[in-house]
Amino acid sequence: MDYHAFYRRSIEQPEDFWREQAQSLDWYQFPNTILSRDESGYYQWFADGTLNLSYLCIDKQLADGYGDQLAVIYDSPVTSTKEYITYRQLHDEVARLAAGLQGLGLQAGDTAIIYMPMIPQAIYAMLACARIGVIHSVVFGGFAPHELAIRIDDCRPKVILTASNGIEIERIIPYKPYVDQAITEAAHQPEHVVIYDRTQGAPMPHQDRDVDYQTLVDAADHAAPVPLAATHPLYILYTSGTTGTPKGIVRDSGGHAVALKFSMKYVYGVEEGDTYWAASDVGWVVGHSYIVYGPLLNRNTTILFEGKPIKTPDASTFWRVISEHQVKVMFTAPTAIRAIKKEAPQGLLLRQFDLSCLKYQFLAGERCDVATLQWLEEQLKVPVIDHWWQTESGWPMLANMVGVELQKVKPGSATLPVCGFDIQILQENGVQAAADEEGYVAVKLPLPPGTLMNLWGNPQRFRDGYLKRFPGYYFSGDGGYRDTDGYIFITGRVDDIINVAGHRLSTAEMEEVVASHPAVAECAVFGIYCELKGQKPLGLVVLKAGEDIEPAQLEKEIVQDIRNTIGAVASFREVRVVKRLPKTRSGKILRKLLRQIANKEEYKVPSTIDDVEIIEEIETVMRT
Ligand code: COA
Ligand code: AMP
Repeated sequence: MDYHAFYRRSIEQPEDFWREQAQSLDWYQFPNTILSRDESGYYQWFADGTLNLSYLCIDKQLADGYGDQLAVIYDSPVTSTKEYITYRQLHDEVARLAAGLQGLGLQAGDTAIIYMPMIPQAIYAMLACARIGVIHSVVFGGFAPHELAIRIDDCRPKVILTASNGIEIERIIPYKPYVDQAITEAAHQPEHVVIYDRTQGAPMPHQDRDVDYQTLVDAADHAAPVPLAATHPLYILYTSGTTGTPKGIVRDSGGHAVALKFSMKYVYGVEEGDTYWAASDVGWVVGHSYIVYGPLLNRNTTILFEGKPIKTPDASTFWRVISEHQVKVMFTAPTAIRAIKKEAPQGLLLRQFDLSCLKYQFLAGERCDVATLQWLEEQLKVPVIDHWWQTESGWPMLANMVGVELQKVKPGSATLPVCGFDIQILQENGVQAAADEEGYVAVKLPLPPGTLMNLWGNPQRFRDGYLKRFPGYYFSGDGGYRDTDGYIFITGRVDDIINVAGHRLSTAEMEEVVASHPAVAECAVFGIYCELKGQKPLGLVVLKAGEDIEPAQLEKEIVQDIRNTIGAVASFREVRVVKRLPKTRSGKILRKLLRQIANKEEYKVPSTIDDVEIIEEIETVMRT
């Protein structure tokens, strides 16, 4: 199929294009209205259609006679466990948990938080919520109790589903005490906490609100899927913004299902029955779209991998999983590949395995450096495809749509716009940039199905953050340029969000924690280059007058504060003390300048800084 013609049709005739795609799903009520506007005037898809994601991911496959096909392969090198779960077993687990949740009083429109490690129960919990219209919010297990508390207060869950613990290589992460701590900190109090006990010796303090997961499931019947409006929120997923408060991305049901099904076939080139692996975590958008909903909607076998690319037990794990489970398409973050390459640069570990099953390797989550992409291409000898998207978009916006027509790979570029995304590079004033000219990456409205509907409880932030900067466009927050062949290159965030090992983090949130240290007068946190993780955060602090705390002690305390408040996942390890921070006349810290100095990039000292000693001190501190 000709990519350009297919893409053009999606932009020029969006309603016809997506009506046709919607026909690939089994709706209770097929939509008459394809594209319309909600009460605030923002676009919505398939408004009068009804469907259920849990039905489409499970019951539909049973009805079509695929109950014995594997739905999920749980491969957990950290527990030396493998579990093979058929669509029939998935149905039993999910329908019973859904009934159990109904028994606890949950119904369509309620919210539930899922704070779980990479175990099958996390998938069951998501699908059980979807089955009965409960809006789930999965919180990544690497976040500390305070982050969980913020999310509890924002989405006000009736129930939290959790597990006794996670496992980081060999370290037990005790989730249950974290949940209790978060509930103590939060103003909102959930009615119940449902806990899956992994019986691995983690501390399990008991509270009156606690319910044992297995007891609940064992006592329950099967709940039927509830027909829901296409615009019914499927989930809220919190992601970092430019302020200290995370934003709750709200995803619809109908548009999301259509987009994911479409993407499995046309972006990833996966057919029904194939095995697909996204090596991410259910706590991130990649996990939502491509560990759970996308592959199951497409009747694929999805891999749930509880481990790391290295150390569980070594850098051959990814290749073992691909070969053993016959993975056709794999998706991971460039960081993971850099970690593997560092351990085994000659790729010898890879050659122990027959990887002939693998057709495409996709990368996303952060900028992919050319060296990593080329190394992987040489090792795997299959197309390695960098593609670009975000929590907000829910599915790829730029990609090499291999299911349509494989395009030439240009390392450094995420290739061409995916159907439905009219991507434009804009100058500061909103005028389109010329070829090869760097600008702001924006998408002309309407966005295609499956992208964010709103921000939970904060429509104003949604409009201000995404729609105001360039009227008529969605602004992605990324910078980039388009070359003369139309290929788009993403150059990085133009705001204060950083990307550490494929994890999106807010420097503003970290600054709040650093600034709350009693010795700190003011501070700046920004991202500096990291060979492994792409970026890592660094804090510059100015001490309060008269403070004489040792810098090493200060660093230790602040690092611990960040771990306790945000979580170890922030990878915050470095603090430097300076006398002053460079600022604009209005007092705004010049973070971009700090970043440029730290990364040894070219920089221009703004005319507002008349004291060069400020810059000299920072240069000196950065060299140490
Ligand atoms: N629960 C609890 N803690 C977690 C966690 C989780 N789910 N995930 C990460 N952490 C902790 C780690 O244990 C580590 O703690 P430490 O500082 O005490 O060692 C810290 O958070 C940082 O973790 P991470 O960024 O994973 O770094 P690492 O050095 O342990 O591993 C990589 C480096 C490259 C192997 C790892 O970052 C990786 O696999 N990256 C790929 C990420 C990815 O797939 N992202 C997908 C987004 S699309
Ligand atoms: P998240 O919402 O956590 O998925 O992070 C999205 C952000 O990660 C984007 O806004 C980009 O800054 C970055 N990102 C994701 N994929 C890519 C990619 N392929 N190339 C460059 N940056 C990327």
